[in-house]
Amino acid sequence: MRDISYDYLEKIRDILLEEGHSIGSLRYHVATFGCQMNARDSEKLRGMLEYAGFSESPDEDCDIVIYNTCTVRENANQKVYGRLGELKGIKKKNPFMKIVLCGCMMEEKAEEERIKKSYPFVDIVFGTMNLSDFPRLLYQNLKYEEKQYEVTPIDRKNDELLLSKIKSDPILPTKRKYPFKSGVNITYGCNNFCTYCIVPFVRGPERSRRKEDILDEIRALSRDGVIEIMLLGQNVNSYNDPGDKTTFPMLLRSVEEIEGIERIRFMTSHPKDLSNELIEVMSASKKLCRHIHLPLQSGSTKVLSEMNRHYTKESYLSLVDRIKNKLPDISLTTDIMVGFPGETEEDFLETCDVVKRAGFDSAFTFIYSKRDGTPAADRRDQIDETVVHERFDRLLSLIHEKSSENSKRFVGQTLPVLVEEKNSHDQSLVTGRLSQNAIVHFKGDESLIGRIVPVTIKESHDFYFFGEPALS
Ligand code: 5AD
Ligand code: SF4
Repeated sequence: MRDISYDYLEKIRDILLEEGHSIGSLRYHVATFGCQMNARDSEKLRGMLEYAGFSESPDEDCDIVIYNTCTVRENANQKVYGRLGELKGIKKKNPFMKIVLCGCMMEEKAEEERIKKSYPFVDIVFGTMNLSDFPRLLYQNLKYEEKQYEVTPIDRKNDELLLSKIKSDPILPTKRKYPFKSGVNITYGCNNFCTYCIVPFVRGPERSRRKEDILDEIRALSRDGVIEIMLLGQNVNSYNDPGDKTTFPMLLRSVEEIEGIERIRFMTSHPKDLSNELIEVMSASKKLCRHIHLPLQSGSTKVLSEMNRHYTKESYLSLVDRIKNKLPDISLTTDIMVGFPGETEEDFLETCDVVKRAGFDSAFTFIYSKRDGTPAADRRDQIDETVVHERFDRLLSLIHEKSSENSKRFVGQTLPVLVEEKNSHDQSLVTGRLSQNAIVHFKGDESLIGRIVPVTIKESHDFYFFGEPALS
């Protein structure tokens, strides 16, 4: 059924036309901070604005600027405030300009207050539960020339408002970055409450979309030319259809059957919930990509327990073994945090030991950031900054060394590459991705974009490669 947001988008278009703007003459820019979920939400924001008659601008010197914010670490917030300051100058020159803030940072009461108080030139603010309210808010802002603030608070105590928001999952227009690949949400929110993490507080309770809605969306994407999809959730392994209780491996089997979809990825897997059944489904499948992102966070069993991660160093390593036994061509990547409160040198060395033994192809590394409202933020034993930085540097060089060693295994192999774009530095090259998610550059032209072609890997550089097209 068509969502009411479409009516608002049409009303916005009428207002613009009445005011003498032609379709496409007013321009928007959406800047995304943070994760794949935000990237997908931004595609919906772009789709809605295009539907209403705006066209995309490569920079912020335009008529509507949206910052889709992240708040997982403190520096993500700081970036937004820095850029907001610059926007103020642009707005002075363009009185029509609308500044819109949304995403995870808006769900933090203190940030919302700070914006109201110190950034009065912001026109519209909405929360993570209010994506489909955006057309109405923009319409109201244009029609009544009033600021619009709509942040559904994340109150997990069965709040009725939250429940009604959770139930509605309207299909919104989208504008994808790449015509041939797309993210697809399968779960929203998170129930894990890792003790450092703000996500459960800003993205709300975990809820799985209905399997049939997911499959319908993927079928529609396939008809629209998509060949690769990435199933998205904070913890995809805990997917559970609210009606027929379809689990994640079962969902994958159904997605595999959809014609036209050639590659299936998923992100993120929580090690505590990654089942043997999932490994089986992957090993039996040609479409499921050979990549698992498996956040480790720490290699110390003591720290993992204090993080509320529900696995140990040993169980993580044995999971890695099980995966590699069944899927010898898998690539594993991870997230690692240093400086969690109470982390000792011994704990840190346990993390390094896992990095040495697990064989990650690459890792995102983070310095622990204290997030108000999370249990770890109240701890007295926060780690000294210089100690953390020194550990962080050691970890980086270890990861660099290990991923260089690991990626050599691909050299000489001929592997399928989905070509994504022309190389931005060298116009004679194109850039694509292996099933293992690593980036490959090779000689080629635009005609290859969106196609899967065999490439022989010639040179490895950490987790990117140079190759040569293998003529088939
Ligand atoms: N500080 C630092 N890193 C964090 N992450 C989540 N919360 C924090 C925090 N408070 C990292 C975790 C997670 C990734 C998305 O962000 O490693 O896997
Ligand atoms: Fe945060 Fe843990 Fe949920 Fe990931 S699983 S979003 S780290 S609480």
